[in-house]
Amino acid sequence: MNDLIDALHLREPVEAIRSKVVPRHRSSVWYYLGGFALFLFGVQIATGVLLLLYYQPTPEAANQSVELIMKRVPFGSLVRSLHSRSSNALIAVVFLHMFSTFFMKSYRKPREIMWLTGVILLLLMLGFGFTGYLLPWDLTAYFATRIGTEVPGMLPIVGEAIVGLLRGARSVSGATLSRLFALHVAVLPLITIVIAGAHVTMTALFGSSVPPGAKITSQTKFLPRYVLGEAILWLCGLAVLLTVAVLHPWELGPAYDMTKPVEPPAGVHPEWYFMFLYQTLKYIPEWAAVGLYTVVLVFWSLVPWLDRKAKQGERSPLFTWIGIILIAGMLVLTTLAYLSVSNEVAGQLPSFGSQATSEPFPLHQPAVDRDTTLRSKGK
Ligand code: HEM
Repeated sequence: MNDLIDALHLREPVEAIRSKVVPRHRSSVWYYLGGFALFLFGVQIATGVLLLLYYQPTPEAANQSVELIMKRVPFGSLVRSLHSRSSNALIAVVFLHMFSTFFMKSYRKPREIMWLTGVILLLLMLGFGFTGYLLPWDLTAYFATRIGTEVPGMLPIVGEAIVGLLRGARSVSGATLSRLFALHVAVLPLITIVIAGAHVTMTALFGSSVPPGAKITSQTKFLPRYVLGEAILWLCGLAVLLTVAVLHPWELGPAYDMTKPVEPPAGVHPEWYFMFLYQTLKYIPEWAAVGLYTVVLVFWSLVPWLDRKAKQGERSPLFTWIGIILIAGMLVLTTLAYLSVSNEVAGQLPSFGSQATSEPFPLHQPAVDRDTTLRSKGK
């Protein structure tokens, strides 16, 4: 074994991992989230590859092939449900990981690039969610993707080009399905593996940070103690996901038939992690929403350089407050979005109007099949 390690020039990295310790302090429990996100990403790759064996990315066959996976393929329903539930868990864990590292000010020198690669990973995870949503080609997926692919059109200069690139046609069509499928199964995974590789390698190089003012109470050896703790979390997480996947299989709505266009069903909406964006579109025009979130994203990416106090190892309450306000804003908008959707499904008009979504896809169209919306996506 030692000879092999020498031949592969692995002695230094192996020694670095063997001697690595993780500091313990009042917030150190949050360190587990990064590894948990990595585990869930592994679940996504494994279940995604299995789904690929049967899935067919065409408007005629996509919905049927998913139905076949659910009804005829052994453990197909379990694998599909695991993929869908775990994708939601992954995005939730990545948000928690991001905000926990934010509040611990882990982005301080020398981890600025870790933060930046983290922001890219968040966008990649949201990209997976967006591109995967259309793949079952059911009514909700079709109409939600129609709204989603419209939004970048408001970006100056590049907007129209992005919409064209995503859709491959004037409206959401078979070309869109091919493109989102390619992004979902090839482009995004490859970029994610490279960026996540860099992100995790930097953890090995820099070790775990200690928040300003925190007192280190002890240290845990990374091998085997810390890794075993992490493994327990992974197994518990997998057990919960399997239980939910078995008890609540991910549902599938009826196929969208392009030869018989229908009105969008009432209450059609994106996944929970896009709901705050969706709600924003109801208050301000698309161009303003795109501008606002571009500014927020640029600000968020530059936090390690903007937070001068944290840079000097001091507490920075201003940035803590910025984080709290951001979370509160996202929670309020998400709650309002769900209230609006349930009003719509119940057949009542919401108390506020729709601006951006009123053309060319009005939110408050008469429903063609309300049950469909309720059944699809398990909402
Ligand atoms: C797929 C998504 C992600 C994966 C797989 C991932 C993985 C990891 C892992 C394994 C660690 C080391 C353990 C830990 O400290 O938690 C880590 C640390 C870190 N991550 Fe992530 N991460 C992801 C997304 C993000 C995001 C979205 C951000 C922020 C924008 C971020 C920022 C950081 C920072 C600053 C650290 C250093 C923590 C410290 O040393 O205290 N990560 N990440």
